[in-house]
Amino acid sequence: MTPGMPVYATGFFKYYIKKLKYSLIMSRLVAKNQVIILRMKKIFIFLLCLIICSGTKARDGEPIKAAMDKVQLAFNLDDSGSPVYSVNYGDKAVIKPSHMGIKLLDDSSFDKHFTILKTEHKTVDETWDPVWGEVSHIRNHYEQMTVHLQQQNLPHRLIDIVFRVFDDGVGFRYEFPMQPNLQYFVVSDELTEFALTGDNKTFWIPGDYDSNEYPYTTSPISQVDASVLYKSEAEIAVRFVPDKYGIQTPLMMKTADGLYINIHEAALQNYTSMQLHVDTKTYKLTANLVADAVGNKAYMRTPCHTPWRTIIVSDKAGDILASKMILNLNEPSKISNTSWIKPMKFVGVWWEMQTGKSTWSYTDNLDVKDANGKLIPSGKHGATTANVKRYIDFAAKNSIQGLLVEGWNAGWEEWFGHWTEKPFDFVTPYPDFDIKAITSYAAFKGVKMIMHNETSGGATNYERQMDTAFKFMKSYGYVAVKTGYVGKIIPRGEHHDDQWMIDHYVRVAQKAAQYGIMLDAHEPVRPTGLQRTYPNWMACEAGRGNEYNAFGNGNNPDHETIMPFTRFMGGPMDYTPGIFRIKGYSTVPGRQVHTTLAKQLALYVVLYSPIQMAADIPDNYEKHMDAFQFIKDVAVDWDDTKIVEAEPGEYITTARKEKGTANWFVGAITNQNARNATIPLDFLDKEKKYVAIIYADADDADWQNNPEAYKITKFLVNADTKLNLKLANGGGAAVSISPAASEENGLQLYK
Ligand code: NOJ
Ligand code: CA
Repeated sequence: MTPGMPVYATGFFKYYIKKLKYSLIMSRLVAKNQVIILRMKKIFIFLLCLIICSGTKARDGEPIKAAMDKVQLAFNLDDSGSPVYSVNYGDKAVIKPSHMGIKLLDDSSFDKHFTILKTEHKTVDETWDPVWGEVSHIRNHYEQMTVHLQQQNLPHRLIDIVFRVFDDGVGFRYEFPMQPNLQYFVVSDELTEFALTGDNKTFWIPGDYDSNEYPYTTSPISQVDASVLYKSEAEIAVRFVPDKYGIQTPLMMKTADGLYINIHEAALQNYTSMQLHVDTKTYKLTANLVADAVGNKAYMRTPCHTPWRTIIVSDKAGDILASKMILNLNEPSKISNTSWIKPMKFVGVWWEMQTGKSTWSYTDNLDVKDANGKLIPSGKHGATTANVKRYIDFAAKNSIQGLLVEGWNAGWEEWFGHWTEKPFDFVTPYPDFDIKAITSYAAFKGVKMIMHNETSGGATNYERQMDTAFKFMKSYGYVAVKTGYVGKIIPRGEHHDDQWMIDHYVRVAQKAAQYGIMLDAHEPVRPTGLQRTYPNWMACEAGRGNEYNAFGNGNNPDHETIMPFTRFMGGPMDYTPGIFRIKGYSTVPGRQVHTTLAKQLALYVVLYSPIQMAADIPDNYEKHMDAFQFIKDVAVDWDDTKIVEAEPGEYITTARKEKGTANWFVGAITNQNARNATIPLDFLDKEKKYVAIIYADADDADWQNNPEAYKITKFLVNADTKLNLKLANGGGAAVSISPAASEENGLQLYK
């Protein structure tokens, strides 16, 4: 070692001397002496910098801290030189001292014997405007603390841990700087722990490598057992839960002393996704990275970093829903011209297939042909030209901007369950779907078409076809695509949530952006705020949507009161709300939509997405056009959002102000228990009078016995009004509020 030089600098020194020697030889060869002098200068300035920076080395044993408001972070190395952190909220512990680190495939010692080279602190306070969102301005205010670590022993590798402490939580990630002894590496495990303070109430789904479409279980963390649901949830097409104690993020918890804690990740790119392993005895969670086909977790090259691990905390449940921490931890938009990205509502040739009224496929038997060698139509195909035109008419008449058509392309007869690579080519319509006629009719009626590309898990096939598919959509004027990944993944052995697929979903978003197409991905990994970076990525499914109420056992009445605290923490979901016909789809006892009709309306406000489907079929809407008025009116892009009241698993009331207007919309939902929601309208402009249209459960409504009973009332309201709304069992209420026109001043004032 060079005398007087800090340990970490020697590695760099050797590396740069090597580089220097190489430069000298090369430079001699080309006889460019000036270049040599310039390079030597640069190298010496760099080394000088390293030596000066080493002055801030912290003493081992003394925690290094950062804090914002009530959130405090402490970091230290333990006796074996392993990194340890803890998080407090005021005087309450949130995360007890917990280990951190990454395991490398080729270096079993990379988790300990570190020394702290230096720490850096900086504060950032900035505001940015999302292209679309729940609010139009977002403050990004945090203290950043970077801890530079180096292995004390050979090969003296470096790792930085970067913490960002916000008012509402902590994000941290591991960074691997460029360095002489670490260039390409394979992550075999991540050691990040979250040591909980007690047996928290937990809202969880199994840690499945392939699906997020489970119902939520509410239990103490000590009672987690993912194997039960893994076995019983046979309606989920592909599932793989290797760890009985594995659970998914975003994970929502409540402590016995009233703290709400949410654990997830932000900006998941170039890495695999993180699930959590639960120690049911000690209440410690450990990162469980989703493995790939050969059991590895991630393939990296320095300089690089992991996604952010996020811990959001508050003593108010509503603060968790209002948190913008995950978005703030993502990179700004990579799309410079975003003028073509437009939030919208859409209808779809969809629910009729989900409920068995029609089919995606054209024929019942692919192997039987008529005398002309043509397929014989079954007569049940949904995506026929005539049917699609009916949906276009309905959308145009009711100011719904978009239309999704599923089952338009050949291949559905064998779309899923065979693990074959190429059921679809994404450009061949069925014979009864006249794409040219449909395109001109939609354009004539001013309806935007949404393409459907179901891959059946064949990601390799989709990658090969993507350019062709996007060119095809563009040539017919489609503005968005809904992708799907029902089925086992190809490349075979990969999982929906592993690194290969995470890279794939991002490639699809990038490719879609290149063609000016908005994206709605079904069955991908759950979102982590990447919609900030790729704002054409409007929504994902990645959760148990309303569709389970059509073909399966459905979603429990508390489901939508949990989803905003879990699945929605990472980003918008295409939940497909708006089902008006609640019962009568199936003869299986108990099969029905598990809400009232009024609650379906409230979901447009409570469940945030910039694309919202009016998911039922026109026939069912036409029976309740007075209630459909709310779906026509409700906005999909917002200036402001207030969480009026919320308790996970119990109830949520949300108020949002439409972007660029003075209109507000309120959604209130409850679980299986009826409740009275009190909603102060103190967010309204004090100077103005408004008209509120209230879409509420009828007095005798009940999600099981009388779900379609609703009442609509209209009142004058102002900022002093307190609405008292009675929500039925499994019910809800939706309210639209707009400035009163002069002729409406005679309306009754709400009391
Ligand atoms: C599952 C999706 O979630 C659903 O919306 C779609 O209709 C089917 N796959 C077919 O692609
Ligand atoms: Ca799905």
